[in-house]
Amino acid sequence: MCGIVGALTDRPVAPLMLDALRRLEYRGYDSAGLATLADGVLHRRRAAGKLAGLEAVLAAEPLPGTSGIGHTRWATHGPPTVANAHPHVAGRVAVVHNGIIENHAALKAELKAEGVVFTSDTDTEVVAHLLDRAIRHGQTPQEAMAALMPRLAGAFAFVVLVAGEDDLLLAARRASPLAIGLGDGEAFVGSDAVALAPLTRRIVYLEDGDWAVLRRGGVRVFRDAGVPVERPEQISTVTSAMVGKGNYRHFMEKEIHEQPEAIAHTLHAVLDPGTGRATIPPPLDAPGIPKITIVAAGTSYYAGLTARYWLESLAGIATEVELASEFRDRDAVLPPGGVAIAISQSGESLDTLMALRRAKELGQKVLALVNVPESTIARESDGVLLTRAGPEFGVASTKATTAQLTALCALAIALGRAHGRLSEERATALREALVGLPGRVGEVLQHEAHFMRIAHDLARARDVLYLGRGLSYPIALEGALKLKEITYIHAEGYAAGEMKHGPIALIDETMPVVILAPTDGWFEKTASNVSEVRARGGKVILLTDAAGAARLGEPGDHVIVLPTVDPMVAPILYAVPVQLLAYYAAVEKGTDADQPRNLAKSVTVE
Ligand code: M6R
Repeated sequence: MCGIVGALTDRPVAPLMLDALRRLEYRGYDSAGLATLADGVLHRRRAAGKLAGLEAVLAAEPLPGTSGIGHTRWATHGPPTVANAHPHVAGRVAVVHNGIIENHAALKAELKAEGVVFTSDTDTEVVAHLLDRAIRHGQTPQEAMAALMPRLAGAFAFVVLVAGEDDLLLAARRASPLAIGLGDGEAFVGSDAVALAPLTRRIVYLEDGDWAVLRRGGVRVFRDAGVPVERPEQISTVTSAMVGKGNYRHFMEKEIHEQPEAIAHTLHAVLDPGTGRATIPPPLDAPGIPKITIVAAGTSYYAGLTARYWLESLAGIATEVELASEFRDRDAVLPPGGVAIAISQSGESLDTLMALRRAKELGQKVLALVNVPESTIARESDGVLLTRAGPEFGVASTKATTAQLTALCALAIALGRAHGRLSEERATALREALVGLPGRVGEVLQHEAHFMRIAHDLARARDVLYLGRGLSYPIALEGALKLKEITYIHAEGYAAGEMKHGPIALIDETMPVVILAPTDGWFEKTASNVSEVRARGGKVILLTDAAGAARLGEPGDHVIVLPTVDPMVAPILYAVPVQLLAYYAAVEKGTDADQPRNLAKSVTVE
């Protein structure tokens, strides 16, 4: 949700920051801008739309200087115009900002009463004006920052550049992520370590509520109104080789193809190489856990819905799955000794972070399931289970999802054994099914031409229904989300048994219905739903295995035959074809699969 970057260098800073913004564009692409200092004077370039617009502006009017700040925006306050593009400047101060200053209206009123004229609709501009006012009144930039921090409410990160201060950047974070990079006589700051990967791997992560003074010689970190604190330097595991598209057209396509490795690496990390069994991470290793509450958003929520089936049927643990944005404001009644699992690819979704904090308030211990080890959600949890999908840039989550599902299934198997619910024989069979998944996913990926042909039809639909029962139901929801977010086609996921309670009214000969039907315990009932769709002229797109295709496939349907796997792990495999259908439908329609309109990869606003 907005990418921010800053750099104090000994080389031209604008190209370097533009490059860093390319790696942050997944966070938002409504507008972009840079500000630099040359001979102590502020220079600024901004453009509406994607980064390409700013590149064109910079080509016509290059920016001088060796220190600067940059921004790629996901609009919250004010439309995506040049006037609302960051950096925002007031007098000597330029600011780039991610998140929301919640008390901006009161601060704006105070400044307006003094005659300040605002030039944008953003909440950000108050930060620039408040700092500039303090500096004009004689405070140093650092004193101004110390005075400002206690006055700001909300969840945000920002970076400040001050005219006349060529060796200074000020940075702050509250809930939104921010990483400081240390170079050789250079200093950097960015929304994540990925942005800084080609510049440095020496990273200092700011804690929630920290603010920092960066100079070329190093960084000093403070809290509140200026209490100094120490934060350790770490070596980032992200390398610049991880952040390109390779030979693929889109990050999404590349990430879909990286799933065999993502699943294999996650299994390798989760399963003990000696015993082949998963270790149960704290706090789930406690005896007699009365209830698990999963909190998550979007696709991670659907991974949680899938995990509920596993945790209940394999481990016998009562499990609830909650949308993080709803849970955080509810008076949920949770038992003492319960555990919450916060699932998040980025580890930064603000809704999920706030739900995690709420779960703690309600007396729960928290396990984080994240793809980014240094993320806020990981750091605020009592235990961490890591997926090893590698950095994911496509806005539509793919490899992180199958890695989440893999980790959750392995965890449920381990809990099933620990709670005496699962025989060792069945646990071994399930682990073997998981270990076989990278190969099975690889087989699915070999049939892309078939997916392209079906997507050709799908791309012409106005509405699409996805149906699944039991373990396939969350994947039906996921398929519908994938399609709508990258093609803008209206799609709905439904529990197949619910179709007759309403959505069946939608079905006619123009309506494709994607039905997920592995041969499992729910198959016969799903088969009836297939007949009901056909009886109303619906166009069936059937995802099944060889036995299911032999039993159900009919001429006129699109039938996608997937490898036969243990039904328990089928949702992990079936997540892949729904991604491929959505991806090729987007390619067919010409929408931008990596940067769909209105969306951003990491949602750090409420
Ligand atoms: O990083 P998170 O897993 O917390 O993100 C949650 C959702 O924002 C995310 O899954 C979103 O729904 C994706 N665009 C789905 O493809």
